[in-house]
Amino acid sequence: MQATTIDVGPPTGKEETIALAEILGLAFDYPVADLTPRMEQVGLENVRVVRADGRVAGGLWLLPMGQWFGGRSVPTVGISMVGVAPEYRGRGAAAQLIKATVQGLHAEGVALSTLYPATQPLYRSAGYEQAGNYYELRMPTKSIRVRDRRATVRLAGDADRPAIEAAYRAYARRSNGTLDRSEFLWQRVREPRGHEARGYVAEVDGRIEGYLYVFNKPGKTGGFNLQLTDLVALTERAGLGLLTFLSSHQSMARQVRWHGHPADPILLLLAEQAHTSRLDISWMVRVVDVPAALATRGYPAACNGEIHFSVRDDLIPTNHGPFVLKVTEGKAEVAPGGRAALEVDIRALASLYTGYMTAEALAATGRLSGSDLDVATASAIFAGPSPWMPDMF
Ligand SMILES: CC(C)(COP(=O)(O)OP(=O)(O)OC[C@H]1O[C@@H](n2cnc3c(N)ncnc32)[C@H](O)[C@@H]1OP(=O)(O)O)[C@@H](O)C(=O)NCCC(=O)NCCS
Repeated sequence: MQATTIDVGPPTGKEETIALAEILGLAFDYPVADLTPRMEQVGLENVRVVRADGRVAGGLWLLPMGQWFGGRSVPTVGISMVGVAPEYRGRGAAAQLIKATVQGLHAEGVALSTLYPATQPLYRSAGYEQAGNYYELRMPTKSIRVRDRRATVRLAGDADRPAIEAAYRAYARRSNGTLDRSEFLWQRVREPRGHEARGYVAEVDGRIEGYLYVFNKPGKTGGFNLQLTDLVALTERAGLGLLTFLSSHQSMARQVRWHGHPADPILLLLAEQAHTSRLDISWMVRVVDVPAALATRGYPAACNGEIHFSVRDDLIPTNHGPFVLKVTEGKAEVAPGGRAALEVDIRALASLYTGYMTAEALAATGRLSGSDLDVATASAIFAGPSPWMPDMF
């Protein structure tokens, strides 16, 4: 068989864009007519195609956004809709597409890249590793039994959007891994696929202290559930107000379902543990630019320390080698060089960076090594809330 020449880049025009929409429509079982406007919303500059011998064989979408780590928003690019036409599969097209995309992001100065994997080996070969979780929580509406109306819960209007987005940011920035959402992602919250979610805000003295977005989703065995696309409570009053609101649906709606965190403080406001949480999938991160990623995130304010480490990265030469990370009062300085006391490969660095795994846990995978003291220092510097996000892309 003749060798295939593979190249990667943005689509050159309408013909390539339509070819990609047809491939992705088939790969994800989406109507092509729905995909084309969404692709335009993503922006053609954020679309990549992979060509085999000059013909479009597949592609992906880039979603520029931020991700909160240690209270600071780190620029990341989400990778979405990775697909290769069935007739071109199994020849390395996807692997080359991902690698070239990561190299391109590095050239643009992007710190991180984040994605949901349908298959891990593909993304691992480009330096991605598990770095946070996506959960589903379920709670029978009858189990809520909260009645507290100190906060007024009312239907949100367009004018509430800035205050809702500010409440989300205040909530998201105290976690790790939550997204600093782009307009595209906000639209997914307000208009989830095939539905329109209604927003409700919890207000006290004219100030929005929490909100939720909800739509009725038919259950598999009849009836319906309340599907939330966002649930944020910044105060006890707002949390109890939103729970009271959800509880008021108990005569008809069976369950409340949402993609939250099993340790969300709103769950402490419930009298009993009638809810369940299930890990749906772990998302993956690629540290695209090691010094930029380390310098941009925040760190525990009470933890000052220094680690000398050496990174192995076969794809991006400027990530490969020794670095010194010095953390003082929550801020980092990063410089090349140092004594390379801790050795870590680029995949293990992703899991450490987000706080998904401690350095001790990573040492057990063989992808990180160092003295007990250096390993413990690394764990302390990257310690924080367990990374998660409510968004799927
Ligand atoms: C997944 C997909 C993009 C792979 O495309 P491809 O060009 O055939 O992949 P490659 O030939 O570059 O394979 C790269 C690696 O990915 C993995 N991989 C590829 N196809 C896979 C599949 N269907 N299932 C599981 N792993 C797969 C393999 O580990 C492979 O490495 P190997 O050949 O050394 O074992 C393609 O099968 C596809 O479009 N599927 C439908 C859409 C989809 O699932 N997209 C992924 C969304 S995250």
